[in-house]
Amino acid sequence: MLIRMGTDVERNESAMHNKAEEDLRQLEESYAALRDESQQLINERNTLEADVRQLRKKIDRLEENVNLLKMPPLIIGHIQDILDHERAIVRSSNGTVFQVSLNQRLEPELLKPGTRVALNQDSLSVIEVLHEAWDPMVSGAEMVEKPSITYEDVAGLDDQVESVREAIELPLVKPELFKKIGIVPPKGVLLVGPPGCGKTLLAKAVANHTEATFIRMVGSELAQKYIGEGGRMVRELFSLAKEKAPSIIFLDEIDAIGAKRLDGSTSGDREVQRTLMQLLAELDGFDALHDVKIIAATNRPDILDDALLRPGRFDRVIEIPIPDEGSRKAILAVHLGAMNTTKVSIGRVVERTNGYSGAELKATCVEAGMIAIRDGRSSVRQTDLMEAITRLDKKRSQGSTMRSPEALYS
Ligand SMILES: Nc1ncnc2c1ncn2[C@@H]1O[C@H](COP(=O)(O)OP(=O)(O)O)[C@@H](O)[C@H]1O
Ligand SMILES: [Mg+2]
Repeated sequence: MLIRMGTDVERNESAMHNKAEEDLRQLEESYAALRDESQQLINERNTLEADVRQLRKKIDRLEENVNLLKMPPLIIGHIQDILDHERAIVRSSNGTVFQVSLNQRLEPELLKPGTRVALNQDSLSVIEVLHEAWDPMVSGAEMVEKPSITYEDVAGLDDQVESVREAIELPLVKPELFKKIGIVPPKGVLLVGPPGCGKTLLAKAVANHTEATFIRMVGSELAQKYIGEGGRMVRELFSLAKEKAPSIIFLDEIDAIGAKRLDGSTSGDREVQRTLMQLLAELDGFDALHDVKIIAATNRPDILDDALLRPGRFDRVIEIPIPDEGSRKAILAVHLGAMNTTKVSIGRVVERTNGYSGAELKATCVEAGMIAIRDGRSSVRQTDLMEAITRLDKKRSQGSTMRSPEALYS
């Protein structure tokens, strides 16, 4: 009995001991878990703190941006003179001249008379040096992609093509020829003739063929609304050409700015005239540069200002006339040559199209093609061409007599 009691107590004790050990182990386990957790929380805090720092930096940056956006606009002007390292004379874009202070952080070498700069609105001090920029209209005028028109596509104008190449290409490619003989090569040519006879086409062929920079501007783009804008564009056009020399400037539809100067005109007309004056000045002024050539084109030589046609400006006037019989044949050969035809006689079309311009001959071919398509055929016949001519004749007689080329040129 005693022994049993002893073992009972012993058992009790060992059970208690076991339990205490178990508790301890559990406590140790939970302690380790808590320690891990706290370590994790510390890590988390560190990353969050890093995030906060990063976000603070971002805020600073964004605030800076906001401040920049809130800054008043800067005035654009040009430096006229540098007085000393602190002061300069600038002309702001509205033409007024000021003496202003210079931002000391600017490179002194960059500050030269003529440099484009940004000015503070209040103090007009020079804040920033800007690089020279071309008007987007002017820089966009450079033809980077060559047109696909070749001299072969310009039909029936062999003499004119020859003259243009002589006046424009030869001086650019072989200037020494002119030097040897001792003559100054022509500055440019003026293409005149009724609409649709291939003036633009010929200029495009020159652009395709030449290695020189080709800059194309339509006269109406130079006729600007604001005073001085057109003149500035002409100036920039020529300085772009000089910078990218050798180059060819093509002024299409020049009558938009080259019309005769009349008395009692509106202010818009006067602005157009100023643009013309600038053009004349540029034409006179760039004689030293043989590697800039000009091709101009117009439908209306009758309204062109005499000053443009004076020798030394457009040295050569090349006439692009309404095609004669032989030229019509050549033009039709070009356009019909690209089409699917069966047994057509070009000769009979030539007979019927007296007075047609190149564009009208092309329209005849297109119309004949349309007739064939409507008929469900894949090839053009002689009857299609004849029908097309009848339609075009009708259109031509409907158009007012003033608009028909012959009325202008008879
Ligand atoms: N001599 C020509 N040879 C071939 N196609 C011509 C000729 N003349 C005019 N054309 C056609 O008429 C279109 C218009 O001619 P274009 O050169 O723009 O006339 P413009 O003399 O009014 O500048 C050309 O795209 C071309 O398809
Ligand atoms: Mg044209």
